[in-house]
Amino acid sequence: MNNFVFYNPTKLVFGKNTVEKIGEYLKKDKIKKVLFLAGGGSIKKNGVYEKVARALFESSIEKVEVLGVRPNPVLSKVKEALEVARREKVDAILAVGGGSVIDSAKAVAAGVNYDGDVWDFYSGKTRVKEAIPLYTILTLSATGTEMNGNSVVTNEETLEKFSFSSIHVYPKVSIVDPEVQYTLPPNQTVNGAVDAISHVMEYYFDGTRNTQLIDRVDEGIIKTLVETTEILLENPKDYEARANFALSTTLALNGISGMGHSGGDWSSHAIEHALSALNPEVAHGAGLAVVFPAWLTYVKDLISDKLVRFGMEIFGREDGISALKRWYKKIGAPTTLRELGFEREDIDKLVNIASKMTPMGRLKKLMKEDVRKILEIAF
Ligand code: NZQ
Ligand code: ZN
Repeated sequence: MNNFVFYNPTKLVFGKNTVEKIGEYLKKDKIKKVLFLAGGGSIKKNGVYEKVARALFESSIEKVEVLGVRPNPVLSKVKEALEVARREKVDAILAVGGGSVIDSAKAVAAGVNYDGDVWDFYSGKTRVKEAIPLYTILTLSATGTEMNGNSVVTNEETLEKFSFSSIHVYPKVSIVDPEVQYTLPPNQTVNGAVDAISHVMEYYFDGTRNTQLIDRVDEGIIKTLVETTEILLENPKDYEARANFALSTTLALNGISGMGHSGGDWSSHAIEHALSALNPEVAHGAGLAVVFPAWLTYVKDLISDKLVRFGMEIFGREDGISALKRWYKKIGAPTTLRELGFEREDIDKLVNIASKMTPMGRLKKLMKEDVRKILEIAF
């Protein structure tokens, strides 16, 4: 086990009827005016918008809205929201949505008082030094963004889907009310499961030894996701399954699942980001269902014992990679690049996009040609 520091400043407010509490939390922090950031309209259909608007009104908190953040969020939308946040001199950002909305909100929170181009945080030109407070109401459990400092955005001009991480953009308060997720289409639940399982696997398979406790925690998270996903595909309104699923996705990427590890591998994530940068219709979770098993196949000799343990613990079978792929198929996740709509000619484009992130990986350092081989396995 490696040395580590764990610090997570986000207050997690979890459970039924918690959305309406947002007013109280903002008021307690003396917030008077928020930038209300949301996606393409799901919150207007399922009543979440109404609830939040009422809670803000009752607590006398003013809001200015920027709606229309799309999945695989883009830099231009972040810039639009930034302009509004600056012009309206908001005290805080309130993000209501899934990972795309919350990640965009993090960029806005960090960018308000930064004079340069907000892309500088993603390109690595500069680090985030401060941010205005961010509050979130999560409507899709998947990314863990509600309790971490990561933001992932696509620069649609350069086709770079890059991330930054900063302690300054951890949400101050995140509300996770599993009931608001009853309206998720089944494929979003599946994408969420695959994403969270992949977050745990990035650590679990990073080659760190002697992590007995966290291995068991990680296996617990994955097993819970497997069980609850199957229940939710049958009954999307099973509260206990939604709640256990939601908590699993939060714990998958809030620092706990990687304690004592050497930081995680993250090459499957980097390669997936190339897929969704090239084709924004590819959901992050769907891309990972294709890339992660291909990466595991490419590096399997380095983690053969762990793969057997994984297969036995999660699926009761020794061949962990086939068992995982079989389960992905069972829940309706894609497992090949072709199913995602890519052609063989796209592999070159994907390799070029991903090569901006090479060398990548911790278990095995991957260069451009390794990425190509993994994509060929995934085809
Ligand atoms: O836009 P609306 O209309 O709200 O619809 C959304 C969107 O179409 C819909 N949705 C959300 N909540 C709903 C709902 N539909 C019905 N009922 C609800 N309650 O779901 C669709 C997808 O939303 P999105 O936010 O894009 O999904 P997700 O939460 O999976 O976020 C994915 C993004 O997060 C990044 C991904 O790369 C991707 O860009 N990631 C962020 C991470 C982080 N910050 O730590 C880590 C991850 O590895 C990942 O890279
Ligand atoms: Zn992910």
